[in-house]
Amino acid sequence: MLQAHNKASAWFDGLYQEHKDTHENIPWARQAVNPLLQSYLDEEDIHKGKALVIGCGLGDDAMALADAGYEVTAIDVSQTALDLAQVRFPNANIDFKKQDIFEYDETFDFVFEAFTIQSLPVVFREKMVKAVVSTVAKGGRLLLVAHKREEMFDGPPWPLTQDEVDLFKAEGLRELSHEIHTEESKISDTRFKVLFKK
Ligand SMILES: C[S@@+](CC[C@H](N)C(=O)[O-])C[C@H]1O[C@@H](n2cnc3c(N)ncnc32)[C@H](O)[C@@H]1O
Repeated sequence: MLQAHNKASAWFDGLYQEHKDTHENIPWARQAVNPLLQSYLDEEDIHKGKALVIGCGLGDDAMALADAGYEVTAIDVSQTALDLAQVRFPNANIDFKKQDIFEYDETFDFVFEAFTIQSLPVVFREKMVKAVVSTVAKGGRLLLVAHKREEMFDGPPWPLTQDEVDLFKAEGLRELSHEIHTEESKISDTRFKVLFKK
């Protein structure tokens, strides 16, 4: 069924197609693991099990989780992104899957979400938070990484406010840690790294 967010989500496949030969101009693609996920894996991670990467893009974060010993599912709405990820990590034991987060009904022990929520207009925020929370198994964890909105920003993307991060608690998650990290960026120099438990 065509949903209101489909047009916003579909925009991504065009961008991945445009830059499929060289990934240099995909603005969010570090082509390396997100350092805030890596620090979680280095410092805090004691639980393994089934992990989900939401909006996995070129697949680096999924690869880091697979290397850390998780059984990884990595979803994205862009088939082009998934194809690129599979080419970049041909031997990875990762289930790369074309899947819209708004229509997913599986649960995982660990969910990693970086920059997907902020990539869709603010009007979808509450619905998206609900969709993300629904993928966390009881007792499972969610690690959220997002730019922090310091001032009104003419998106895309649309960085998150503290109130929007609090929506995860309203949906039944408990905050285990909450950090603000600084890294220069055209979007915002600050970003949230928040760990939740269901
Ligand atoms: C800004 S990019 C971030 C990619 C990656 N998480 C990273 O940090 O590099 C947002 C990603 O979310 C994907 N996406 C957008 N809407 C989605 C949806 N409804 N369900 C799943 N993935 C979606 C896009 O195709 C894109 O790969």
